[in-house]
Amino acid sequence: MAATPSVETAARGAKSSATLEFLKSGPKKLLIGGKWVAAKSGKTFETLNPANEEVLALVAEGDKEDVDEAVKAARKAFEEGKWPRMNPHERTRLLLKIADLIEKNAEQLAELETLDNGKTIFESKNIDVPITAEVFRYYAGWATKIYGETNPSTPDVFNFTLREPVGVCGQIIPWNFPLLMASWKIAPALACGNTVVLKPAEQTPLTALRLGEILLEAGLPEGVVNVVTGFGPTAGGALVTHPDVDKIAFTGSTEVGKAIQRESVGNLKRISLELGGKSPNIIFPDADVNMAVFGSMMGIFLNQGQVCCAGSRIFVQESMYDQFTDSLSQMAQGLTLGDPFDPNVRMGPLVSKEQHERVLGYLSAGKSEGAKVKVGGDRGPQERGYYVKPTVFTGVNNAMKIAREEIFGPVAAAIPFKDENDAVLQGNDTAYGLAAAVWTKDISRAIKVARSLKAGTVWINNYGMLDPITPFGGYKQSGFGRELGKYAIDLYTQIKSVYARL
Ligand code: NAI
Ligand code: MG
Repeated sequence: MAATPSVETAARGAKSSATLEFLKSGPKKLLIGGKWVAAKSGKTFETLNPANEEVLALVAEGDKEDVDEAVKAARKAFEEGKWPRMNPHERTRLLLKIADLIEKNAEQLAELETLDNGKTIFESKNIDVPITAEVFRYYAGWATKIYGETNPSTPDVFNFTLREPVGVCGQIIPWNFPLLMASWKIAPALACGNTVVLKPAEQTPLTALRLGEILLEAGLPEGVVNVVTGFGPTAGGALVTHPDVDKIAFTGSTEVGKAIQRESVGNLKRISLELGGKSPNIIFPDADVNMAVFGSMMGIFLNQGQVCCAGSRIFVQESMYDQFTDSLSQMAQGLTLGDPFDPNVRMGPLVSKEQHERVLGYLSAGKSEGAKVKVGGDRGPQERGYYVKPTVFTGVNNAMKIAREEIFGPVAAAIPFKDENDAVLQGNDTAYGLAAAVWTKDISRAIKVARSLKAGTVWINNYGMLDPITPFGGYKQSGFGRELGKYAIDLYTQIKSVYARL
């Protein structure tokens, strides 16, 4: 077992006493059947603060045996518990209460997110935590709006459909928006009456564990949501292959997504996959250029570029390429890189050593492929922490490695294009299809290009708008299934047709 961490040092910058209390309250446990329990093996792992590389907390390392227990608890809650049979109005009230409690604990949750992930407190406070509450509130409304149909069969038959929960849902989430991704998974599953085993990312388990406490405080019956922290191949893998899990919802790398599709086949689980991206962000000369520069900057540098729908390929019409990339680079240089708790800082460290090395590897690849570093191109000046300078590569062509592979870091590849047709062809020339954007004042061109881009989300004259009312998900190797909006209700229900002879 690792040494007991010094919380004060690791959590420098956090102001709320609730944050320190949470970190100090001993090794973090698994939530199974409404109780906090250690891993059966007794093992723990460390979760680090990526800004100073110090240990924030020890966390139970769940494995197959723990996943078995969690699935048993979720199964019992589903088959015998009141959650799937609850009056939907009551379910709504409970989900609303969860949203309220998230807001009540907003400061602590934002601080824990910043400590565990490295994202700026500015983003945790203004994006992650408030949207998480909104997602619970949005799906609270759905609990009372999940209808079946009556169908026109022959006169001596009454046929109707029922929309029923799928059952026990295994939900595996990544580290880039740890709390928000938990809400995208848990809220619709609960609205539909399912039960859940959540496996947070090993890099960022803390806010999911705090959310587990909040769910209990709100009065969620035991076993309805279980949280098993641990590593991907072990804890995650055990969920994927478990014969008593009915559905897997996964967000993460395309590589693991493919493995999940292969390995989940044993009991033909329903699966939905939200995977990587290499999204094209296309700027035409008739755009509002200032808006386009700012939007493109946000599109690639938000959350240190660790965003599945990041606008990582910036296509700029060749007549404006130099001017545009100059402005973008200037703006990138103006982003303050540093302590994520400093309210003026707009870029913190990457999440982990592994991610830091991966992104630095792409910076070298870009340079050796002949792309030009217009700004950044290196690790940050900090002695500790996984910092990378916001980087803009120019002279990129769409065949280069930095234009083909998901970097998941603050690295923009700016690629010139000739005309509308060329922009669409190059934009679509990728294995991914999560998102895309187009900037132009010509409404016909905007709509035509939006129709031609093979992506699950297209933004016109903005980058990255997100509202729980509308679906989110991928074309091509960015996955399948749609989260958010009414579409998540399809993911978490199945339909039964009932024939009654009259
Ligand atoms: P990952 O896909 O390995 O991890 C995501 C989640 O899946 C984590 O909870 C992890 O524990 C779990 N997992 C890993 N292997 C598993 C397995 N065999 N069975 C079941 N669960 C498993 O992503 P990783 O390694 O953290 O990042 C690698 C790259 O993936 C990033 O550089 C980025 O390009 C991409 N990525 C994309 C995300 C997205 O939102 N689409 C989120 C995170 C990473
Ligand atoms: Mg991995």
